[in-house]
Formats: sequence, structure tokens, C-alpha cells
Amino acid sequence: MFAVYAESLNPDDPLKGLVVGERPDPEVPQGWTTVTVKAASLNHHDLWSLRGQGLKAEALPMILGCDAAGVDEDGNPVVVHAVISRPDWQGDETTDPRRSLLSEVHQGTFADKVVVPRRNVLPLPAGFSVAEAACLPTAWLTAYRMLFTRGGLKPGETVLIQGAGGGVATALITLARAAGLRVLATSRDEAKRARALEIGAHEVFASGERLPVKVDAVMETVGRATWKHSVRSLRPGGTLVVSGTTSGPNLDDALLTNIFFLQLRVIGSTMGTSGELASLVSLLDATGTRPLIDRVLPMEQAREGFEAMARGDVFGKIVFTR
Ligand SMILES: NC(=O)c1ccc[n+]([C@@H]2O[C@H](COP(=O)([O-])OP(=O)(O)OC[C@H]3O[C@@H](n4cnc5c(N)ncnc54)[C@H](OP(=O)(O)O)[C@@H]3O)[C@@H](O)[C@H]2O)c1
Repeated sequence: MFAVYAESLNPDDPLKGLVVGERPDPEVPQGWTTVTVKAASLNHHDLWSLRGQGLKAEALPMILGCDAAGVDEDGNPVVVHAVISRPDWQGDETTDPRRSLLSEVHQGTFADKVVVPRRNVLPLPAGFSVAEAACLPTAWLTAYRMLFTRGGLKPGETVLIQGAGGGVATALITLARAAGLRVLATSRDEAKRARALEIGAHEVFASGERLPVKVDAVMETVGRATWKHSVRSLRPGGTLVVSGTTSGPNLDDALLTNIFFLQLRVIGSTMGTSGELASLVSLLDATGTRPLIDRVLPMEQAREGFEAMARGDVFGKIVFTR
């Protein structure tokens, strides 16, 4: 079958190991099922995989892609939940210590077909295109959990979102605005700051710029480049939710003194449960909001999407279609 996969890993030149080609049809273990992929969205996770972060050399070749929307074996439109927990795991799938994301242990979604546990297949929400639905399971679900489950944010509170252009960041801006929060966002790029205002930010700032107010919470996916600004932007007792480190995980200074003296809360967050995916769909339905798509490309042109993401030339989600 057609597939976009990692043939080798390269920390400095991730696209070197990317192949747009053919892989054998997948085998279907007991209790798993086949989804025919119609749309799949690109995540920074796919670049990390090619760099060898989260993907081991012994798992190669590995079809990339966490997210998919398509049709199940009976022809019903479906969306795939990307968190694979053990079959006997009960409750929050993200807390199974042996969970994985599609394309880490099991083959991913950038292909004609993907094989997943039956419980990871959910009906495609009515009123969503396959391209929109393909944005939900990773970036949008992560944003939902960061804001509401882990961040515990309430309408009327003020949130700062770092690195406005990213897939997760644009989801954070849209969801935060839809939920009645005051939304501040940063970006390195003036054009992206203007776009952030269009999609719901109340105020935008250059990366690192001092804010006129202290915020209740910061949503952090950039890491090293924005960490200090995130800590310094919080009010006493405020909350920093971190789910990613695009610019790197190693901090020059974690500002620990600020963290204890101002009694800040630093909270990790990762992906989300299938229940949260359903709540996310409900929120989008109720507010009439939809995932922001930067561009849609035929899956054969996946390399073009990877290159754009590696350059940081993205505002919203890149979606591949079959
Ligand atoms: N834990 C989880 O479950 C989970 C789930 C999804 C994503 N993530 C992580 O979250 C991060 C974002 O993912 P994504 O798919 O949204 O990636 P993306 O679409 O590539 O977004 C990256 C954004 O980060 C900002 N950025 C990058 N380098 C920066 C720098 N040096 N200084 C300031 N800003 C910088 C950019 O914002 P501007 O250009 O606007 O400044 C860029 O738009 C990734 O690290 C990913 O691995 C984690």
C-alpha cells in the first residue's frame, strides 16, 4: 500500500530518512480493526520521530502519522484516537505507563490503511469534514486537555499562549476564546501575530515581550525559547501547563526561585482521553468553531508539508488527503 514512512533517523537532518513510497498491507491483530485513511494531519511529533525522539531505530521502517479520519470496515466515517493503551488498561489512557502514540510502536496513519484497537475508532462527528476531523486527535485534543483538564481554566480568566503559529497553539487560541477566556498570544512573526488576532486572541505580543498584565495561566509548547517569559508572566499562584518543547527541553534557567516564591504551579499534560475527544467535539459543535487548516496536500506531496513545518512556516494544521 501507499505509505509515508521513516526509513532512518537523523537528529540534525530529519527529512533525510523520510520516504514517500510503498509498505506491505498491515496485519490485523485480534481485537484490532482496519481504517481506510481519507485524511491525516501532520504534527511536530512526526518531525521528532524522524529525529529519533520517541521512535527507536529497531522499530524502523515506521509509517508516520498519529491522526486519521477515514472509513471503518463497514464503510462508516470514523476518526481515530491516537493513544494506544494496553488492552486491559482501564480509565485515563494517557496514564498507562506503557501507552504509545500511533507511529511510535504501531504503524501510523500516513498510508492507505491504519490498523488500531477497536476502541480507538470513534464515529466521525457530524458537520466535520474529514480534513477537519483529522486535526482533532493530537493537536486539538492536547489543547483541550491543557486548558480545561490540566489547567482547570474558567471563563473570564486570562491565559497566555506561546508560539501562536503552531498546530497546538492555534487550537489553544481558538478553544480558549470559545470558552470565554481572555486570550494573549506571542509569536516571533508579525504576520502570525496578525492572524492570531483574527482567530480569537484579544492581544498579541512579540516573543519575549513584557506583558501589560500578569496572567492566570500560560500554555507552553515552545520550551527553552519561551520558558522564562512564561514563568515571569504569571500572577502569584498562577499555572504553567507544558506539553511540548519545540525549541528544546534544556533550560538555561528554570527560574525556580520565582516558582516557589510566587507559589506557581507547573503542570505537565499529554494528549487526551477518548472521553475528552468527545467533549472537544461537543465544544466545537456548540460554539460553531472548527480546526484551522493551514493547507491541504495530497499525501503524495507529504514532503512539502514536512519541509514547511521544519521551517516553522505554518499557521494551523497541515492535512494530507488520500
Ligand atoms: N505532549 C503531547 O501530547 C503533545 C501533543 C501535541 C504536540 N506536542 C508538542 O507541542 C509542540 C508543538 O507541536 P505542534 O504540532 O503544534 O508544532 P508546530 O505546528 O510545528 O508549532 C511550532 C510553533 O512553535 C513556535 N516556535 C518554534 N520554535 C520557536 C522558538 N525558537 N521561539 C519561539 N517560538 C517557537 C512557533 O511559533 P511562532 O512561529 O508563532 O513563534 C511554531 O509555530 C511540539 O514540540 C510537539 O511535540 C506535544
